[in-house]
Order: sequence, then structure tokens, then C-alpha cells
Amino acid sequence: MAFANIFLGKKVLVTGNTGFKGSWLSTWLLSLGADVYGYSLDIPTDPSMFEALKLVGKLHHRFDDIRDKDGLDGFVQEVRPDFIFHLAAQAIVSTSYKEPFDTISTNVMGTASVMEALRNISWKCNCVIITSDKAYDNVEWIWGYREKDALGGKDVYSGSKGAAELVIKSYFHSFIKQMPNIKLGIARAGNVIGGGDWAKDRIIVDCARAFSKGSYVELRSPSATRPWQHVLEPLSGYLCLAWHLATGTIDNGEAFNFGPRAEQSKTVYELSSDLATKWGLDASAVIKVTDNIPFHEAKLLKLNCDKALTWLKWHSTLQYEQCVDMIAAWYKEFYSNKSADMFNLTVSQIQKYSEFAKSQQLPWAL
Ligand SMILES: NC(=O)c1ccc[n+]([C@@H]2O[C@H](COP(=O)([O-])OP(=O)(O)OC[C@H]3O[C@@H](n4cnc5c(N)ncnc54)[C@H](O)[C@@H]3O)[C@@H](O)[C@H]2O)c1
Repeated sequence: MAFANIFLGKKVLVTGNTGFKGSWLSTWLLSLGADVYGYSLDIPTDPSMFEALKLVGKLHHRFDDIRDKDGLDGFVQEVRPDFIFHLAAQAIVSTSYKEPFDTISTNVMGTASVMEALRNISWKCNCVIITSDKAYDNVEWIWGYREKDALGGKDVYSGSKGAAELVIKSYFHSFIKQMPNIKLGIARAGNVIGGGDWAKDRIIVDCARAFSKGSYVELRSPSATRPWQHVLEPLSGYLCLAWHLATGTIDNGEAFNFGPRAEQSKTVYELSSDLATKWGLDASAVIKVTDNIPFHEAKLLKLNCDKALTWLKWHSTLQYEQCVDMIAAWYKEFYSNKSADMFNLTVSQIQKYSEFAKSQQLPWAL
């Protein structure tokens, strides 16, 4: 009965459904009985979660560019979704240094395409737009960022997410809030980790590849601290936000932070070595530390999630150890058992996560 069965039998469009988060979200929605539609440019990695779970046969999917405003609009009109989750983006910070223009056009104009498509919707539809914690102007203070803090971004990826937020805000005030059939929410989360990620320059991915081959991982900034969270944490927030938009229990057009517990801020070294230990390896033998940071990476960025707690009754669920356990189990199964049913394993991790949330009396899980 998660999310009061609001997604059961509903048409849900996920942009960026072939990516890491999009594949997890599609799987969760399928397990909730939704009819899932996807819209993505490509399958961004090889291997990929999308292919590992054989999702192509489980949902309706179109390969197209989010910047193609008319193409997206046509697809939305054809599908007539009850819910839209917009995740399609150029999501890699290091790529934004090599392809700044492409990053801006995908993340900013792509979001404008979604807003244009929303303007043409004549039925009831609830839309959650995923930006990032990097949308905030990171002044490297010690406090958590609140939804009303200034947006900004010193690197192009972060700037593109801040700019996407301005596009959303202006479309919301100019058009969407006058449309009683459209409900809109913005979700900001930070670095996520989980099984099934193969994007470049992500530490878990480097660890999983190395550990599966019995090789070592090289850490370029071992002492960098990140508020790590399992991918299911923000996804439960996105689904919770969509549920509340649909039931009209929150204001329209609001942004929400979805972050981990404060104590989950661990260094890159701690995370890698804990993963190695869960994998059954000697961390000192499989981790090599170097001190080479090739591009500017913002330092500490914490999210204050009081608004999500107050309005959505949402807070994160997993302890750090549970999070690392789930990740090691996912990748170990993928690499060690070629005939493993990764869709079933992923659904069972979602169920386990939902049970943890239920035991904490989180309303979405009851
Ligand atoms: N992974 C993280 O740690 C993290 C953190 C904060 C925010 N986010 C945001 O969450 C969303 C999903 O991230 P992810 O890690 O799953 O990314 P990903 O790189 O794994 O997937 C990106 C998806 O977007 C699609 N895409 C890219 N360019 C496109 C285009 N021009 N047209 C249509 N589709 C396009 C890809 O095909 C893919 O489906 C992104 O908006 C990202 O910025 C991710």
C-alpha cells in the first residue's frame, strides 16, 4: 500500500529513464503497478542498469532528445500521463567541463521543453522536476541549505541546474499556477549511490569495477566529504512529493530538499574502504590514495530537510551501514552471477527499503 496506491494503474512518464536514477525509479513505479513510459536520448553507460534489468521489455520507451520541444510535446500528448518525473540531464560534473554548451542546452532548454509540454496539457497531471543540491550557491558554510537560500553554481553543471530552477520558477508564475489541472514540485538531492550505477567519475562505480576484478581503486580526493545517500532515499522523496501533489495536501510550485542523515557525511576513503570490507576484501590492499584533483569540486554541501519533514512527513530511512550493505550485495550479484535476475533483486531491495521505512512509521510506507 505504499504511497496509498496512488500510482496503481496510472500512466507515469519518466524522462531520463535509461539513466541510473531513472532505472531505479521506473522499477519502483513498475512494482507499484504503474504503467511506465520513458523518454531518453540514449543508454548512457555500458553496462547499464537499464539493460541489466531488461527494462526495455517492461515499459514503453522512446529514444529522443529532451531539447526537441515538439517531439516531447507530441509524446506527452500521445501518452497523456497522470504523473511526470523529469530526470533527463547531462548529469556528470566532469563532462560539463568538456561539454559546457551541451550541458547547458540539455539541462536548461531540456527543462524548458518539459515546461512547454506542461502548458499544453489539458488533463490532470502532477509533475516532479529533479534538479540537484548543486543548484544552490555553495558558499561552503557549515549549515544545511534551505529551500529559500540563493541558487547559483561555480561550475557549469551546477550553474545549469541553478538556471533550470529559474526557468521552472518563471514558467510556474507565468503559466502553470494559472492551470488548475497541473501540480508541480521541484526536488533537490545530492550525491546518490546504489547498485547499478556505471557513470564515470563516481567513486562507487570505480570501486565496484576494481573489486569485481580483484584489482585496486585509485582515490583522487580521499578526504573529500560528501553527504552520501542511497538512491532509494531521494526517490522515496520524489514519489512522496508526487503523491502529495496529487492529493492536494501541499502548495503548488514548491521546492523540497531530500538529503541523508547528518552522520552520513563520510569521506571518499571511508566509503571505499567500507565497501571493500563488505565485499570481503582487505581495504588496505585494494585502495590506493593519490592527491590529484583535476577540476574544481565544491567542498561541503549539506541539505536542510526540515521542509520535507514538516510538509511531506519524509525523512531518510537507511543507516549508513545498511546503505553500504545493499550496494555491495547488488554489485557482487551482478558481477559474480551472470544469470542473476537483477530486476527481481532490485525489486527486493526496494521492498526491503520500504519495510525499513514502514518500521519507522513513515506515512508513505504504511
Ligand atoms: N546521480 C546523482 O548523484 C545525482 C545527484 C543530484 C541530482 N541528480 C540529477 O538526477 C537526474 C538523474 O541523474 P542520473 O545520475 O540518473 O543521470 P544519468 O547520467 O545516469 O542519466 C541521465 C539520463 O538523461 C538522459 N539524457 C541525457 N541527455 C539527454 C537529452 N538531451 N535528451 C533526453 N535525454 C537525455 C540519458 O539518456 C539518461 O537517461 C539528473 O537530472 C541529475 O542531474 C543526480
